[in-house]
Amino acid sequence: MQNKTFYIKTMGCQMNEYDSDFLTQSLISSGFSRVDNLKYADIILINTCTVRAKPEQKAYSLLGRMSELKQENSGLIIGVIGCLAQQKGHELMKRFPQLDFVMGPRELGRIKEILRRIDTNGEKFVATHLEPAPPQPVICQGYFDGKVTGYLSIMEGCNNFCSYCIVPYVRGREISRSPEEIMIEAKNLISEGIKEITLLGQNVNSYRWEGVEKWNFVSLLREITKLDGLLRLRFTTSHPKDLSEQLIHCFGDLDKLCPHIHLPFQAGANLVLKRMKRGYTREKYIDLIDKLRTVRPDIGITSDVMVGFPGESEQDFDMTLNLIKRVQFDSLFSFKYSDRKGTLAAKMGDKVDEADKSSRLSALQNLQKQISLKKNRALEGKRLEVLVEGYSKRGGQISGRTGSNKVVNFIGDNSYITNLVTVTIKHGFLNSLHGELFFENNSLTG
Ligand code: 5AD
Ligand code: SF4
Repeated sequence: MQNKTFYIKTMGCQMNEYDSDFLTQSLISSGFSRVDNLKYADIILINTCTVRAKPEQKAYSLLGRMSELKQENSGLIIGVIGCLAQQKGHELMKRFPQLDFVMGPRELGRIKEILRRIDTNGEKFVATHLEPAPPQPVICQGYFDGKVTGYLSIMEGCNNFCSYCIVPYVRGREISRSPEEIMIEAKNLISEGIKEITLLGQNVNSYRWEGVEKWNFVSLLREITKLDGLLRLRFTTSHPKDLSEQLIHCFGDLDKLCPHIHLPFQAGANLVLKRMKRGYTREKYIDLIDKLRTVRPDIGITSDVMVGFPGESEQDFDMTLNLIKRVQFDSLFSFKYSDRKGTLAAKMGDKVDEADKSSRLSALQNLQKQISLKKNRALEGKRLEVLVEGYSKRGGQISGRTGSNKVVNFIGDNSYITNLVTVTIKHGFLNSLHGELFFENNSLTG
């Protein structure tokens, strides 16, 4: 099995990116090598998402194309991993008979065993148990070379059962990782050159560890920010119903904690929020935003919202637009509601027409575009701290992000990459800022 090459394609959220990194590191440390072109792969792994209808469709079309490759190379091993794998299990095997295995997010620790059994016995596998705890971190020296930012999963699964959401069914019940394991992984990322860590979890605010010492999310943040060599800490995703006063105050107290929060609101009408089983009202949400801005006026606030939840009326939708105007988000991820089989909302009547969903989505996106542009233009002339991560997408410039999570492109030497610098903002665009280097912070401070 060793010396085989693998190609991994990641779809979906940061959790899946983290899982793909985990798999890649565990395979590399067992002698496999990663290739970036699937033509040279002995093993193809496709990490899928099923949170909405669109990513699910994308995964099917990719699986169709990958399966065809097996007709040209019968020795090829193809595995589907991630949330769609967990949800569909045997159904995927039937629909795509060329697949060798299907493996859910909680079974990733078995990857080497499964590949070995396929190789020796030609067995096929569906590994979709939801009970296993997340696997131990793998330390693969040099894996993060050249990277400035990295993810660290602090918990897996979700207990909230929002009525539209498939996540609790595909990622299982909430389970927090031990603080010891998290600290080892954080120190390892830092020793590998990572300067900014983003803590990941479906609902990080409910992080809990009931060992000899009791830990919650705030104590974890405090401990991680003490680590030498770490310049910045972020986290995602937060649930408004669990956002405590203590956590809000961390944005004022902890220097390394970036002034940015991703706080999904989903809908602006209380009756819709109730049917979504979100556990807060629009008034409570707005109150949280006001408190966050009192503690940290420059905090970047981003969110998720969906249109066309079952029973959403035009008036309900207006309440969503109204909340967006009131809060003035820096940016928004917006989606059309889609039924996810097995969830409560999928069984609700009074579904909204596709055409209405589309027109609501474009009205919402137009409104948000104006707000994002206005907010980015308001930064023109300001001096902001930027962690330089690499080259800009279009090339010719270097690029990084502000603490509030806005992309800033500017002309500068590549030796600034991995450093904190201060940039004067010259232009605010819809999705990024253009700046001019003011000074290199590290040279002044140290
Ligand atoms: N339909 C549409 N959007 C959904 N999301 C989650 N489930 C659904 C669904 N059934 C959105 C939510 C969530 C984001 C990750 O995806 O806005 O925050
Ligand atoms: Fe991530 Fe949810 Fe998609 Fe799974 S279903 S990959 S947890 S967004």
